[in-house]
Amino acid sequence: MSDAAFVVLEGGDGVGTTTHTKRLFDSLRRSGRAVHATREPSDGPIGVQIRQILSGRLVVPGPTGPRAPDWRTMALLFAADRMDHNDATILPQCGEGTVVLSDRYYHSSVAYQSITGGGAQATVDWVKEINRHARRPDLTLVLDVPDEVSERRRIERRGGRELYDDRGLQSQLAAFYRSMGAHFPGERIVWIDAHRPVEEVAREILEETLRVVGA
Ligand code: TMP
Repeated sequence: MSDAAFVVLEGGDGVGTTTHTKRLFDSLRRSGRAVHATREPSDGPIGVQIRQILSGRLVVPGPTGPRAPDWRTMALLFAADRMDHNDATILPQCGEGTVVLSDRYYHSSVAYQSITGGGAQATVDWVKEINRHARRPDLTLVLDVPDEVSERRRIERRGGRELYDDRGLQSQLAAFYRSMGAHFPGERIVWIDAHRPVEEVAREILEETLRVVGA
C-alpha cells in the first residue's frame, strides 16, 4: 500500500489552525476516509515538556531569575519532538494508509525559532538543517488573518500568557508566514484567507485537501 497523505495546518497564534484541523478531520471522517489528527508540540514525552515551557511551568535558572530556555534549546527540543512524532505517529499512520493532519509542523520552527533567534539567514538554515529528516508534508495550508484579529483571539482564549504571545513577535511571524514559500522550495503550500465565515474557510480547506488525498 502506498503512503497516505500528510497534511499540515500552519500560521501564527490565533489564526485558527486548531479549529480547522478539527473541522477537516470531521469532514474527512464523515466521508468515510481513514484519518488521524495530531499536533505539535506533540502529545509525546518531549512535546509535553515543551508545553510546560510554553506555559511557564518549566524554567531554567538565569542571572535575573528563572526564564524560558533560549531559542537554540527550543529549536532542538521542537526538532527532537518532531522526530519522535514522525517515529511514533506520522510515519506509521501514513504507512497504514491513514491520512494524517497535523496542527503545526516544521514551518513553525523555521518561523518561531528563527525569528526569536534574530532571523539571520544562518539561523534559518540551521533550524532547517536540524529538521532535515522530518517527513515532508504533501500539503501545507497556511491560515492568515489580520494581526488585530489574531491578537483579539489570543487575548480571548488564553487563561495565562504563553511564551510567544508578544504582539510585535506575532506580527513578525504573520509577515514571515505570508512570504515563507521561498524557504520551502518544491513544497505544496496554499495560503488561506481565514478572515471569513468559518464554514467558508473550512470548505476551501477541504477542497484543497481533497486535491491531494483524492476526491
Ligand atoms: P499552540 O498549541 O497554541 O499551537 O501552541 C504551540 C506554540 O508553540 C505556538 O506558540 C507555536 C509554538 N511553536 C514553535 O515555536 N515552534 C514549533 O516548532 C512548534 C510546532 C510550535
